[in-house]
Amino acid sequence: MAKPKTRTFGILTSGGDCPGLNAAIRGVAKSATECFDMNVIGISNGFRGLIDNDAHLLKPQDFSGILTLGGTILGTSREQPFKNTERDSAAALSKADTLKDNYRKLGLDCLVVLGGGGTHKTAHQLQKEGLNVIGLPKTIDNDLYGTDVSFGFASAVDVASEAIDRLHSTANSHNRIMVIEVMGHRAGWLALSAGVAGGGDIILIPEIPYDSDSINSHLMKRYRDGKKFSIVVVAEGAVSVEEAKEKEKRKKRDPSAAYRVASRIEESLDLETRVTVLGYIQRGGSPSPQDRLLATRFGTHAAKMMAEGDFGKMVALKCGEVTSVPLEEPASKARLVPTDHPLIESARLVGTCFGDD
Ligand code: F6P
Repeated sequence: MAKPKTRTFGILTSGGDCPGLNAAIRGVAKSATECFDMNVIGISNGFRGLIDNDAHLLKPQDFSGILTLGGTILGTSREQPFKNTERDSAAALSKADTLKDNYRKLGLDCLVVLGGGGTHKTAHQLQKEGLNVIGLPKTIDNDLYGTDVSFGFASAVDVASEAIDRLHSTANSHNRIMVIEVMGHRAGWLALSAGVAGGGDIILIPEIPYDSDSINSHLMKRYRDGKKFSIVVVAEGAVSVEEAKEKEKRKKRDPSAAYRVASRIEESLDLETRVTVLGYIQRGGSPSPQDRLLATRFGTHAAKMMAEGDFGKMVALKCGEVTSVPLEEPASKARLVPTDHPLIESARLVGTCFGDD
């Protein structure tokens, strides 16, 4: 029997915002409405909007002219309806019922969700509850399993790399150690990529717990070789060897990673050290052209999947080709940096220290 033609779909953005969300919304909405004769319902503030039935029909002018716009026209939240609820608990069932009821009240044939790991966990749960769901991979951390890259990542690498470039000149002027913290609490893709692109002398990522003695001896060697300044790039999720051994996995530590690294440097070396935490600058602003291209490719692919009734998957990039993977892949685990990744090898070959030698 021919698959039913999707007539109306809902779209929401969930989790941390990033450049490229509006480009992706545009990609889905323009192609679905203009080429596949669909209606699009915008759901506000992530899954919060589906719980509260806070949604409205999008008109063509709503998703026109937003390709280069930062943030998300729909708003977002970190609402994860099934978090901390057992799959069959009363709480989970009532939330699932609310979401299913509103999905039906809105007359949806499909729900398109743009988000990261937590978003795809919820998407997978909703698919299991019988809804038609398609995911698009979004995160500056690039830690979504199942795709080589998520949109938002390239723009964040551009921002962080440019910041590191700027720190070189001030570090050089003051003969200082500059420690810069970039985002990425589970995976170090952003720190690794921006660190190599920005010529970081030391790059610390969550996947390689660091030894402060290794950091300090690398800095001292540079100093003795006449290099009076150094740049240390730290992922917010980087931990020392001792911290990695702690039983409880702490998501947030105070002070944050860069301050912990800087204080260990200052305790041991007589070298002026300063800290910069890039924070939300990496999440703001207009998407890079690379992210606009990726978000458009992902969005239009999602529209084709809806037209074909191909649900329960996340759009993905594999070896340069746009494809899709079952939702359980991004829902099941994070995409961490392999410690033998070729980019780590290249960095080591140009003398970069990862705090482990
Ligand atoms: O998940 C992307 C991300 O930017 C992480 O890199 C960062 O740790 C987190 O979101 C910040 O979350 P929030 O926006 O809720 O403060």
